[in-house]
Amino acid sequence: SINEKKEVRVWCDGCYDLVHFGHGNLLRQAKAKGDKLIVGIHSDEEITRHKRPPVLTQEERLKLVQGIKWVDEVVENAPYITTLETLDQYNCDFCVHGDDITTTNDGKDTYQIVKDEKRLETVSRTNGISTTDLVNRILSLTRKSVSQETNDILEDKELSVDISKDSKPKSPWTGSSQFLLTTQKLIQFSDGKSSKPNDKVIYVAGAFDLFHVGHLDFLEKAKSQGDYLIVGLHEDTVIKEYKGQMYPIMNLQERTMNVLACKYVNEVVMGAPYTVDENLMKHLNVFLVCHGKIDSDVLLNDPYGVPKKLGKYEVLDSENDMTTEKIMTRIKTHRQQL
Ligand code: CTP
Ligand code: C5P
Repeated sequence: SINEKKEVRVWCDGCYDLVHFGHGNLLRQAKAKGDKLIVGIHSDEEITRHKRPPVLTQEERLKLVQGIKWVDEVVENAPYITTLETLDQYNCDFCVHGDDITTTNDGKDTYQIVKDEKRLETVSRTNGISTTDLVNRILSLTRKSVSQETNDILEDKELSVDISKDSKPKSPWTGSSQFLLTTQKLIQFSDGKSSKPNDKVIYVAGAFDLFHVGHLDFLEKAKSQGDYLIVGLHEDTVIKEYKGQMYPIMNLQERTMNVLACKYVNEVVMGAPYTVDENLMKHLNVFLVCHGKIDSDVLLNDPYGVPKKLGKYEVLDSENDMTTEKIMTRIKTHRQQL
């Protein structure tokens, strides 16, 4: 009928490589412009042709995008140049993109056609994060060798002086990223719902660095053990202690935003203690503590002694062998091509 409001369908296409909270923030804003959000993912071949080989495969990129809480549908093999046919094929009213210009390998604006038809809306890009920045952080870390350490420290001091005057992505060696986490950004990514008294609260903790498909599968399993999932994220200094000085690749603020964008997560503890004690169990009303089978590091003095004693501990098998280190190795191996 005439009074029936038509559902507004929004289209967002992109590479979505090394899926990060900048992508999440774009998708959040796009979803707010309509009722349903449809995300088109470019194929590995298309990205290689127009930009550089992606780090993650199209299956991995698709899966991670599907795990973002504002996404309703995903479409594989979306063409690099957005056409009216593509929008119409998926019944989308318009397309949303960040306010950067994306070009083809011969320099054409990939959104010219939809722009001309007034079917493009832009939102402002999230400052301080991009796939390129993440790749560069990893390359600059792996470039360093132990024997270079002293030199690096000197270099870094010089760098951190220069960086104070510049707006380009910073070296991870200065220990800071360009991203500024504000309380507004946290609110925008949160669902604002506390756990209910009868909810089975599940608690997991870790680094969740360079949020990947292994994390996603693990969190899905963890969520299915109860009603409300709380993720504890360790401080950067704690991660350095158990994984080594070059970690984490993404700082606590960035990891918080990545994890909050995940559809299985209800709440995040920013700076969770390494050891899960009685106080934490009581405070968060924890029903079950879970941990995965995959550990890139040896757990120092069993952090789960208390929940084990209480009979509230379970090991979950994510059935996925992805790790942060594997992603870093891929980037290192493909370095010549980048
Ligand atoms: N995007 C954003 N904010 C960021 C990064 C990306 O709003 N910090 C948006 C882009 O504007 C685009 C979509 O996310 O609409 C997908 O962008 P994509 O090119 O896949 O990601 P980038 O991180 O920009 O990748 P790259 O660094 O390779 O350009
Ligand atoms: O290594 P990290 O601390 O980021 O891992 C967070 C959680 O995800 C841990 O419980 C880990 O065992 C789990 N995980 C998993 N499968 C993977 C990677 C991590 O179950 N492939």
